[in-house]
Amino acid sequence: QTIYLRDYRVPAYLVDTVDLRFELFEDGARVHSTLAVRRNPESDAGAAPLELDGDSLVLESVALNGQALAEGAFEDRGDKLIVASVPEQFDLTVVTWIEPQNNTRLEGLYKSSGMFCTQCEAEGFRCITFFPDRPDVMSRFRTRIEADRSAYPVLLSNGNDVERGELADGRHFVTWEDPFPKPCYLFALVAGDLVEKRDAYTTGSGREIDLRMYVEPRNAEKCDHAMDSLKRSMRWDEEVYGREYDLDIFMIVAVDDFNMGAMENKGLNIFNSSCVLASQDTATDLAFQRIEAIVAHEYFHNWSGNRVTCRDWFQLSLKEGFTVFRDSQFSSDMGSPTVKRIEDATLLRTAQFAEDGGPMAHPVRPASYMEISNFYTLTIYEKGAEVVRMIHTLLGPELFRKGSDLYFQRHDGQAVTTDDFVKAMEDASGRDLSQFRLWYEQAGTPVLNVSDDFDADQGVYRLTIAQAIPDTPGQTGKKPQHIPFALGLLGSKGESLPLRLAADQGDAPTDRVLELTQAEETFEFHGLAERPVPSLLRQFSAPVRVHYPWTREQLLFLMSHDPDGFNRWDAGQRLAVDVIQSLIGTPKDTAVDSRLVTAYRHLISDSSLDQALVAKMLQLPSEAYLIELSDSADVPAIHDARERVLKHLAIALRNELVACYRRNLESGAYAVTPDQIARRSLSNTALAWLLQINDEEGRELALRQFRSADNMTDRLGALRALVNSDYEDDRAQVLEAFYERFRDDPQVVEQWFSVQAASDRAGQLPQIRALLEHSAFDWKNPNKVRSVIGAFAGQNLAAFHHPDGSGYDFLAEQVCRLDDSNPQIAARLVTPLTRWKKFAPAYSERMKAALERIRDKTGLSRDVYEVVHKSLAG
Ligand code: ARG
Ligand code: ZN
Repeated sequence: QTIYLRDYRVPAYLVDTVDLRFELFEDGARVHSTLAVRRNPESDAGAAPLELDGDSLVLESVALNGQALAEGAFEDRGDKLIVASVPEQFDLTVVTWIEPQNNTRLEGLYKSSGMFCTQCEAEGFRCITFFPDRPDVMSRFRTRIEADRSAYPVLLSNGNDVERGELADGRHFVTWEDPFPKPCYLFALVAGDLVEKRDAYTTGSGREIDLRMYVEPRNAEKCDHAMDSLKRSMRWDEEVYGREYDLDIFMIVAVDDFNMGAMENKGLNIFNSSCVLASQDTATDLAFQRIEAIVAHEYFHNWSGNRVTCRDWFQLSLKEGFTVFRDSQFSSDMGSPTVKRIEDATLLRTAQFAEDGGPMAHPVRPASYMEISNFYTLTIYEKGAEVVRMIHTLLGPELFRKGSDLYFQRHDGQAVTTDDFVKAMEDASGRDLSQFRLWYEQAGTPVLNVSDDFDADQGVYRLTIAQAIPDTPGQTGKKPQHIPFALGLLGSKGESLPLRLAADQGDAPTDRVLELTQAEETFEFHGLAERPVPSLLRQFSAPVRVHYPWTREQLLFLMSHDPDGFNRWDAGQRLAVDVIQSLIGTPKDTAVDSRLVTAYRHLISDSSLDQALVAKMLQLPSEAYLIELSDSADVPAIHDARERVLKHLAIALRNELVACYRRNLESGAYAVTPDQIARRSLSNTALAWLLQINDEEGRELALRQFRSADNMTDRLGALRALVNSDYEDDRAQVLEAFYERFRDDPQVVEQWFSVQAASDRAGQLPQIRALLEHSAFDWKNPNKVRSVIGAFAGQNLAAFHHPDGSGYDFLAEQVCRLDDSNPQIAARLVTPLTRWKKFAPAYSERMKAALERIRDKTGLSRDVYEVVHKSLAG
C-alpha cells in the first residue's frame, strides 16, 4: 500500500494533552493513556469517526469522558482503533497491554540489556498505545512511570520530573511533564539501573541547564567526550544560529540495541552506545569525531526538528537535511573545514549518487512511500543537507542567518513543510528560489558537461556548461535546476587569475560562484593572456557530477597548485581514478603511470604541506567509488587494478613510507586534534601500505605498534594492517590477543568483527559464517549484525561479489532470517543488492536472483517488500 503526498489532509482531530501512565513489569507493560481530544477547526471532516493508529497492541479498555465504551461503540482493527461517534471535545482513555521484552523490532517500547527504552520515530508510538501517530498532531505530554525500584531505579521521560514516590511491593514512580507541545514521535521513556553523570551549562542569557548522561555502570568512564561535545554544541548553536536551549534539563541515554545512530526525543536524547560512548583506549579518532557530530546533530534538532517539526513524513528532510547541514558546519568549525568537506563529498559521491542512480532513487521531498522507515536515506539526509548548503551559498552567510531567524520565528511550535523553509529564506533575502525548489522535487544527480575554448586574440576564455538530469523511476524529462557553481582559473605558474565577466566593473574576484539555470550556457572571462587551467565546482558547491576532459598533466598541476584545498584533493582523486580505470582488465605487468608515483612521493615527503589534507590525498579512491563511476562493474577486476596501483606505489615509495611513518609517530599526550588525527592517519596509512608489499620492517613496526599503542586508533590501525596482510600467523595472533583484551566491551568487539568482515583476507565467506557463530555475535543486536553482515556486503566488495554468486545468496539468506525479527535492519541490509544494474551481466543476473529469493519469502515485512519490489521493477 502506497502513501502519497498529494493525499495529505489536515488531521480531523487534535490532541491537546496526553496523560500517560506506564506500569512496567517483566512479562509486559500496561499503558494507560488519556487524550484531551477536540475537533480540528481547520478540518472539513466534520463529525468524522475518530481514528487512532495502533500496532501489536492488546486493547484492554476504552472510555470516553470517563465512561467505559460498550462493545459496539468502538472497533479495534489492530492497526486502527475507531470510535464512530464522538462529541466535539472529549477525553478518551485507552488501556493497552504490550510486551517490550519480546519486541525485537526495536520500535516503540522495548528492552535492551535489561533496561526499558523507546524509539518512536517515525511510527513507533503506535506500538505503545492507540494514538493519531502523525507529526502534525502536537500535544503536551505528562508521563508517569511505575516500576520495580531495585531493578529500575532510574525512570526518565521528556521534560521535567515533577513528582516521585514509593508504591507497594518495592515499586516506585516518577512523573514527568513536558511543557512544549510535541508530536508523539518525540516521546521517550527510559527505565533502568543506570549511573548518572552530571554537568551543567550556562546559556548566553544566563540560564543554568542541568546536563545528565545515563549509562550502564561499566560505561561510566566513557561519557566525557559526549558531554564536552554537548556543551560545545550548545554554545555553537547560540553563536551561529542564535538558538538557546529551552528546558531546564537535557538528558542523554546510551543503549546497546538501537536501529539507528541516535534520536532527538525532546529533552531526552537516546543514543546507540556506539555513537556516544568513547575513551582513548576503546574509540578511534573516527569514532570520536562521529560522536561529536551525532551529539551535535541530536542537540541541534531541538530547534530544527522539535520546536519546528515536520507536517508529514514527506517533509522529513526539512528537519534532517537542515540538521545535517548544521552539524556539518559545526564539525567544520571544530576541526579542519577542508577535511570535513572532503568527507561529506566522498560520502555523497560514493553512496548518495549510487542511491540516486538506483531503483530506490527519490527526491529530497518524496512524493510517495510504502514504509517511511525506508526513507531515512542518504538522499533525505545528505543530499538534503547539500540543498540547504546551496541556499547558504546563494544567499551568503548573513542573509542565510536572516532566513533561518525568520524560519524559526515564523514557525516556532508548528509542523511545517520544506516549502515553508524555502519561503522563509526567500522572504528574508529577497531572492527568488522558485527554480531552486526543483532540488526538492526532482530525483537524480545532475550531470554537468563542461567544455571550453580560448580565444587568444581577444584574451577571452569561454566555458560552456550543459546540465542534464537522468531519468529515475517514475520521473522523466526533467527541468534544468538552479545550481551554484564555484570556480577559479589558474595561470601557468599556478597563480589565481581574475574571473572577469563582461559586465564587471573594477577588480574581478579570483574565486566566484556562477549560477546555472539553463540546460546549457556559456560564460566568457575576459582579459586573459593565456589559456587557464579551470578549477571547477570548488568546495563541491553542488551535489552534481562534473565531466571535463582534464589531461593528467592538468590534474597533476591542480594537485599541487590549486588554492582550493578541496579541489586539490579532487584532482588527485580524478588522477588516481583515471590511472586505476586504465588498468582494469589489463595484464598484470602493465606499467603504472610514473607521474602518479612522483605526485605521491611529493605528498608523502613534503612536510610543509597541510598534513590533514595530505592524509586525505593519500587515500586511493575506494572500490565503492570506482564501482559507482562504472556502468558495468566487474568488481574482482576493479579490486585487482586498485590493488596493483597501491602495491606499485608502495614498492616505489617504500623508503618514503617508512620515513613518513617514523616522522608521524605519536609524541606527547593523546588528543583528538586535527593535527594529531592527521599524524595518526598518515602513520597508519604508511603501515597499511608497507604490509601490502610484505615489508619485514613494516611488519615489525606494526607488531610493535599493536603491542604498545596507548590509543585505539593506533591499535586498530596496526590490527587492520596485519589482518589485511599475508602474514597469516601474525593475523591470527593479533586477532586473538585483541579479542581477549576487549571481549567485555561491545563497542570494541564490534570493531573487531568488522575489521575481519571487511577484509579480503580474513573475510571470505566461510570465515564470515564462522563469525556469525562466534559467542559474541548476537542476532538481536543491530550493531553486531551490521559489523559482520553489513561490513561484508558493504566493504568487502571482492568477496561479496564473488563470481559464483555465493556472497549474494548469503546476504539473501541473512535478510530473510532478520526480516522476521527486525524488518528495519533487514531492509537496510538489502541495499547492496538493489544496485544490481551497476554490475556486469554475470553479476547482475545473480544479484537479481538473490532479490527474487527474498521476494519469495513468505510473510515478508512491508519494509523489505518495498525495497525488493522496487529494486526488481527498477
Ligand atoms: N531522527 C533520528 C536522527 O536523524 C533518526 C531516527 C531514525 N528512525 C527510524 N525509524 N528510521 O537523528
Ligand atoms: Zn536527525
